[in-house]
Amino acid sequence: MFARRAAWDLRPTDFARHVAARRAAGLPILDLSESNPTRCDLARTAALADALAELTRDPAITHYEPDPRGDLAARTTIAAYHARCGARVAPEQIVLTAGTSEGYAHLFRLLGDPGDVVHVPAPGYPLFEHLAALEGLRVERYPLLPPRRGARWRVDLDAFAATLGPRSRALLVIDPHNPTGSFVDPEDWASLRSIARERGLAIVSDEVFADYGEGGASVPGALAGADDGPLHFVLSGASKVLALPQLKVAWIVVAGSAAARDEALARLEFIADAFLSVSPILARALPLLFAERESIQHAVRARVAANRARLAELLAGSGAAPLPFEAGWSAIVRVAGSRGEEALAMSLLDRGVLVQPGYIFDLDRRDADGARCAHLVVSLLLEPEVFARGVALLRDRLAEPRSADSS
Ligand SMILES: Cc1ncc(COP(=O)(O)O)c(C=O)c1O
Repeated sequence: MFARRAAWDLRPTDFARHVAARRAAGLPILDLSESNPTRCDLARTAALADALAELTRDPAITHYEPDPRGDLAARTTIAAYHARCGARVAPEQIVLTAGTSEGYAHLFRLLGDPGDVVHVPAPGYPLFEHLAALEGLRVERYPLLPPRRGARWRVDLDAFAATLGPRSRALLVIDPHNPTGSFVDPEDWASLRSIARERGLAIVSDEVFADYGEGGASVPGALAGADDGPLHFVLSGASKVLALPQLKVAWIVVAGSAAARDEALARLEFIADAFLSVSPILARALPLLFAERESIQHAVRARVAANRARLAELLAGSGAAPLPFEAGWSAIVRVAGSRGEEALAMSLLDRGVLVQPGYIFDLDRRDADGARCAHLVVSLLLEPEVFARGVALLRDRLAEPRSADSS
């Protein structure tokens, strides 16, 4: 009765069952996986209320004039935002979407036929496989190599090249990457661009965390210099840029040589026109909320930096340590030795702490030197006191004998 693309195994995993059972029993859970800013005391209620109040005085919201690319004032604001890194971006190069996931879906529809392949990083964003499958596409993973002595994660270019084939259509890049927290190295960018150009692949780069570099570092801007390169789509959105996931406004910037770019835009506009999914009212709130961007991001960066420092401090001498970090909202904790990730996460849950085992993000269970380890991913957005309590419980758990992993 149902399509093969909808034939998922909907049974909850053991881990999900364990979480649900604990919740049903009314037992407390300290959720170190919480990455929704509105649940971490980072909601910007006043900014949102002011923007919505101002909107009610905007005569434009009383008429419906659909624009498939999305509200022009919103696109003008986004174009100025992307121009901050020296790129030339016009509002006409932007298409609004209802969230980044919809942006991926539109691009998969634009770029691939059923059975075609998109190349995604591993470790990476777990949703890619589902988003691609929903459009009938397959994913091929290209490995990211873990940092050695303080450097960043690097693309395994040989392994990537080995997975390219006649059905390859697009290369997905996350910059900075979630959950590794690494920026894409400029040398890797240059190699990926030249492979994409040679093999006729479009590049899709997800820059949702671009403004959350440690110490204010930002992406050099994939768009600067993209005018004479391969077709390049940059994804971002209010969910991370303004820490307002509930706005459900994201965008695609289209770049590349003029002819390919304009044709892609015309076709993308056709797809967007079939849905007209972004509320023009909410899109008009975007310029008002962008005025608060610096202060919103300042608060998030301060939270992330404080939690990051606390994480390193609390884990010192515990046999676990956070991996090097450049940007983003999460941290990877590496636990040395051959503990099972799921057993460790389950035993932590029994002690009231929820963390995400690394396999969810396709993290390898070996470190850069090939030694066995487990990875746990934790959110750095949490309120500092909650975060510290959770990490202290993790540290205490690691001090217990190994046999307790499965208890
Ligand atoms: C790399 C990456 N892209 C996109 C998103 C989600 O964006 P949106 O809320 O706009 O769908 C996330 C969420 O964590 C993410 O990690």
